[in-house]
This record gives sequence, C-alpha cells and structure tokens, in this order.
Amino acid sequence: MSAADGPVDVAALEADANRSIDASSTTAELDAAESAIVGKRSAMAAAHRSLGGLDPDARRRVGQELNELRGRLEQRIAGRRSELVAVERAAALEEDRMDLTEVVTGDVRSPVVRGHRHLVTTTRDQLEDVFVAMGFNVAEGREAETDWYNFEALNIPPAHPARGMYDSFYVDLGEPETVVLRTHTSPVQIHLMEHAMAEGSLPIHSVMPGRCFRRDTADARHLPVFHQIEGLVVDHGITFGDLAGTIETFTTAYFGPDVHSRLRPAYFPFTEPSAEYEITCTICLGAGCRTCSDTGWVELGGCGMVDPAVFDAVGIDTALWSGFAFGFGIDRCAQMRHEIADMRALVENDLRFLRQF
Ligand code: DAH
Repeated sequence: MSAADGPVDVAALEADANRSIDASSTTAELDAAESAIVGKRSAMAAAHRSLGGLDPDARRRVGQELNELRGRLEQRIAGRRSELVAVERAAALEEDRMDLTEVVTGDVRSPVVRGHRHLVTTTRDQLEDVFVAMGFNVAEGREAETDWYNFEALNIPPAHPARGMYDSFYVDLGEPETVVLRTHTSPVQIHLMEHAMAEGSLPIHSVMPGRCFRRDTADARHLPVFHQIEGLVVDHGITFGDLAGTIETFTTAYFGPDVHSRLRPAYFPFTEPSAEYEITCTICLGAGCRTCSDTGWVELGGCGMVDPAVFDAVGIDTALWSGFAFGFGIDRCAQMRHEIADMRALVENDLRFLRQF
C-alpha cells in the first residue's frame, strides 16, 4: 500500500477497526462497532466505492487487499463476540444463582418473608365456610370427565346447541372426544346423585368447588382455567323459593349488605326453570364500567330447579324428590369482593398484587 493508491489506506483502516473491536466490552457495543466497521456508512464501504477512481491494476490489487481485510476483520469480530458472549453468560448465571445453602437466621432486622395461600384458595375456603354454616357439606369431583358426566347426564346430548356454550379441551383418552377437562363443576352433581342412589343416602345438600377449563381467551372477566363452586340440594318438597333464599343469604353473607343480587330468567339444559345469578358490580357500584361491560351488574353464575331429565339420568324418582342447583365462579367472587378490575391479575404471579391479600 502506498500513497499512490490514493485515499485507500488499508493498514490504517485495519488499525482503526481492530482498536474498536478490542475496545468493545459488551456484545451490544460490538454490534455497534461491527456496523461502523463494515456497514454501509463505514470507511470500508467508502474505500470500496473509491476503487472506481483507481487505474485497473491498482483497483484489482487494492480491491483484493480490501477483501482480505474484510475477512480478517470478520474473524476478529467473531472471536471477540464469542469471548463477550461467554462473559455475559457467566454474569447472567451468577446473577440468577440461588444459594441453596443459605441459612435463615430469623434475625428480627431481616424478618423472613413467608408465603401465603393464593387469593383464589382463600376465597374458596371462605365460600365453603359460608355454605357449611348454612348446612351444606363439601364434596369434590374430578377434573377430567367423560362426555356422559360433563354433558349427556346433564341433559346435553351430542350436537345439542348448548354445547356451544362450552368450548372444550378434549383429553387424548379412549375414543376421540369422549373425555374432556370438565367445562363446569356441574358433572359433580351427577356423581353425587349416582352415589346417593347406590348408597340409599338421599337427601343431598352439597357444595362442590373445583377447577374448570374452557377454550376461552383470557380477558378482564374470563380465564381459560377457572374455578367454580357448584351447589346441589335434593330433598322432599324443595321449591324455587328455597333456591332464591339460599342465593340471597349467600350473597349478603359473603359480599356484605351493600351488594345486591338479582336472578334473571335464563336457559340451562340441566335446570328448569333456570336463572342467571348476578350481583352489583363492585368496581363501579352499578354505574357501569369496563369490568361489567357498562351494565352495572356482573354475572356470577347460573341456577335453577333440577331438570327431570337429569333426575331420570341418575334414576331419582321425581314424584318423591325435587331439588335446586347452582354454579358460579370462585375467581369472579374474588374479583368482585376485592374489586379487581382485571381477572388476569390472578394468574400473572406478580407478587406486588398477590401480597395484598
Ligand atoms: N354449569 C353452568 C355453567 O358453568 C352454571 C350452572 C347453571 C350451574 C345452572 C348450575 C345451574 O348448577 O343450575 O355455565
């Protein structure tokens, strides 16, 4: 390389480039250095462009030198990058390291932060307590159910339009679409009635809390994995008045005297008549907001008198027995009682949120 080759000083280019590669102390700095060295607006690119002004011999020779330089620089950049990646990875590992041998001293100046139960678990317990105080017992079902329990015995035969209410997750077990993650806790009713028939242990006064699953997109009021508490009473001479009284008693016991409930005519295949159970939206106290879709009311669930077709499915004699059932969302109860505008907070595991409860 000589002054006769004009403005292209390959040695100086290389020295500059090497200096900035070596001076990069993070991969981000190296990325910036790389684009300054070989990018469109680099001295290298300018040198390439200036080749056009050289005579053919010099153009060939300097062009080749530039290409060789580019090769050397790329290698040096790659080498530096792998050093920096290793350093950064080691730093990240060190930062994430957990000292499992750490001894908890119980020093009062740095009290140990103990975890506690999740709001949904606490809510479930409180709901159970309210119902136990009203004379119910607590039963549990299973999270995967056959089509019979989740749908058919509840008067939802295959292809029934009500299946559209329940977008289901199917489990890969047995014949296709015969086992589902339960879409509601209502199938536990069927288990309880079958059991009572087998044992001759009617009447039933039970609540059944548990986890349910639907192929829904999470939003302010819905989670694809959520919790319900189901109620079932089967006894002699049970009427809709018993149902309404139970719901009213529950509402004031759990939410306090300022929250009102209303039952609105609705349709569920497993109850007749059926009603939707709604309470005052506690976020806006009825004025209307995003959480209640500007209605002032939030639906907690459904209820009604057990449909004779359901009693038939489990062999209960409708001449002797009648009953009511209800099912509503535990997460929704927690949301309303604690004025949580967006239910997704329940599953985001943000400790700043969880520690409030
Ligand atoms: N299983 C219904 C649902 O999740 C809620 C429901 C409605 C339960 C009416 C009941 C009932 O027991 O009687 O959509």
